[in-house]
Amino acid sequence: MAQNALLKATLQWYLDNGVDEILGEEPIDRTQMPVIEPVLAQKQPQSTVAPPLATAAMPQQSPADLMGAAEAMSKARELAQGCNSAEELKKAIADFDGLSIKKTAMNMVFCDGNPKAPIMLIGEAPGADEDRQGKPFVGVSGQLLDRILASIGLDRQEEDPLKSVYISNILNWRPPGNRTPSQSEIDISLPFIKRHIELIEPKILILLGGVSGKAILDRSESISRLRGTFHDFNGVQTIATYHPAYLLRTPAQKRAVWQDMLMINAKRKEMDILSE
Ligand code: URA
Repeated sequence: MAQNALLKATLQWYLDNGVDEILGEEPIDRTQMPVIEPVLAQKQPQSTVAPPLATAAMPQQSPADLMGAAEAMSKARELAQGCNSAEELKKAIADFDGLSIKKTAMNMVFCDGNPKAPIMLIGEAPGADEDRQGKPFVGVSGQLLDRILASIGLDRQEEDPLKSVYISNILNWRPPGNRTPSQSEIDISLPFIKRHIELIEPKILILLGGVSGKAILDRSESISRLRGTFHDFNGVQTIATYHPAYLLRTPAQKRAVWQDMLMINAKRKEMDILSE
């Protein structure tokens, strides 16, 4: 019994520290692995200098692992521009090997909702529930998002485009342990989400949270400064608001999100896309 309690406490400690993924059946002691020549070193002229210990002890990497952020970004741009439909884009992202988070994720998360809806929402990155189901915003923060949308007559399941929304994220793969995406993961993912927006052609864009707001609007201000007003993003009326996960931790900010929803409704009316 005491042993069980100890095991449970140990597991909880791992979870609390973001260690919630099993990558293999057996643990690997990387300190005991044989020294392997890095792939890049084989292509370079022979050097008389021994590789640094840390590099030499690394497991063998595939060429994709060695793609630098700049190369991955330019590849992402080229691939995204070559896509002429959301289906093509989904396949291009699935085949793209420039992001290592693809390897730890269970499923790719591309979209949910109605692609004909005039309103598109963009979150940050999938969490554990989204990773399992392959759909954005299906966990607790997604349930809160659904209630917020319902308060202004919107439902992602609706067939009528005017009553529905389309949802995606900046990142299509879950960062392990739900950590905040790194700047290079955001930069590499941006060409894909920007092309996604172009292909869906929304009339109104809602950016959920600071990561999404700053990345799409290319601004450095906090979400509390970005929200509460419409911005122009390549001709699309765009508003940033607090992320539902933040609202779960800080319910007092629900009032601000309600104000943003009222602004969105006023904009829908002005644009004649408010369903009766
Ligand atoms: N948070 C996000 O930003 N996106 C999701 O899909 C789920 C949680």
